[in-house]
Amino acid sequence: MAKRFPNHPQLRGGFAPLRMECDAPDLEIEGEVPGDLAGTFFRNGPNPQYAPRGDHHWFGGDGMLHAFQIEGGRVSYRNRWVRTVKWKLEHDAGESLFNVFDPRDTDPRAMGVKEDGLANTNVVWHAGKLLALEEGHAPFEVDPDTLDSIGPWTFGDKLVGPMTAHPKIDAETGEMLFFGYNADGNISEHMSFHVVDRDGRLIRSETFLAPYAAMVHDFMVTRDHVIFPIMPLTGSMERAMKGLPVFAWEPEKPTCIGIMPRHGSVADIRWFHGDPAYVFHPMNAHSNGDVVTCDVCEFEQAPLFPLADGRPGDPAKATPRLTRWTFDLSRNTDDFKHERLHDIPCEFPRLDERRTGLDYRYGYFACDSRNDSGTPVGAFNGIGRVDHHSGRIEVYDVGAGCATNEPIFVPRSADAPEGVGYLLANVHDGGRNAGHLVILDAENVAAGPLATAYLDHRVPFGFHGNWKPANEARRP
Ligand SMILES: [Fe+2]
Repeated sequence: MAKRFPNHPQLRGGFAPLRMECDAPDLEIEGEVPGDLAGTFFRNGPNPQYAPRGDHHWFGGDGMLHAFQIEGGRVSYRNRWVRTVKWKLEHDAGESLFNVFDPRDTDPRAMGVKEDGLANTNVVWHAGKLLALEEGHAPFEVDPDTLDSIGPWTFGDKLVGPMTAHPKIDAETGEMLFFGYNADGNISEHMSFHVVDRDGRLIRSETFLAPYAAMVHDFMVTRDHVIFPIMPLTGSMERAMKGLPVFAWEPEKPTCIGIMPRHGSVADIRWFHGDPAYVFHPMNAHSNGDVVTCDVCEFEQAPLFPLADGRPGDPAKATPRLTRWTFDLSRNTDDFKHERLHDIPCEFPRLDERRTGLDYRYGYFACDSRNDSGTPVGAFNGIGRVDHHSGRIEVYDVGAGCATNEPIFVPRSADAPEGVGYLLANVHDGGRNAGHLVILDAENVAAGPLATAYLDHRVPFGFHGNWKPANEARRP
């Protein structure tokens, strides 16, 4: 028997899990879906199947995929949970058996089970495979047409250890680059770095030690460099065994940014140091000779996690803002320039990914343009575009009672200039307790949607999504 979910802020409103899977063809549309938009917008996010064991954390829910298939001016929708080992065992039991953040609380029926993660953070299309990602485990392959679960994918048994949920796909080479943290299978400073070629073959794997064990959510790649941000949201199993948090904000430690020549090796990583801060997501980075520029959404203090002694963090400091780090590799120092680009609170940054790792003009994000205090980290009122040339920000406010998160950019055509295309995002309408998809003209964000596709149910606030063009098919 499924128990009632507890009354927890990350299980209410737009965070509340959806307890069904469905296919919804031909959604009601307001406006006009651009005729040249053909493909599928996949999104992933935590959607716990059952009421949690112990304390709930937003990051601990089972992955649910949402697919908006767009073609010929129509939009169809499908959602499915990813059938992980955890999901299947709990489905059979009719209740939660795992406590993701406190392994001591595992139900005896799940003790010793080799699980394959939550698959709840991102969903990426590369080399003919759709991969649901969560940073503690290998990717989980899903059928892009049916959303049926296929299973863990380790690149032909070559990947050992976890893969970040934020790989970078180089538009010039077609390569997918990624890293893993806790790469030895423990909470540790062990890191890995991998490259998969355009055909999906794992062609490079290296390991190295970070300065300390931390939650390393994302990284950056340029044409010439790979950038690993180690920031003091630290991990400690020793702390956890004392009943304190596994992951905690520990500002006594500095920010350490490792920069590796992309065509060198991990032995060439040079470490730079700065004040404690946290970044879940960079927007982009690029290299110009010895100068490496990184644009990131930086928090003064990591949100969603407590201090090392278990006390809560300061929510006033847990606001993300677009920040630029500039590293001059010709100088013989370990510092870097740090500048705030804008004051608007913003997260879930994206770009026209054809410019990944290259100098670029436009970035996109979810933002709190009303500067409402107390906006949950996962929910924002606006979708924004920044023009780095003019410094100008344009925002579409999704409206009273509505909230949104990450927008993705889809180019109008493969050879369209940078920034010419569409932004797609989910919006949760608290008044209807249901979701809608908005399609914006990326060159005129403030004008509001070109088209809105309405669902009859909620798409819970999730994390990340990506686009698969209609003319690309799955490769076995
Ligand atoms: Fe993320």
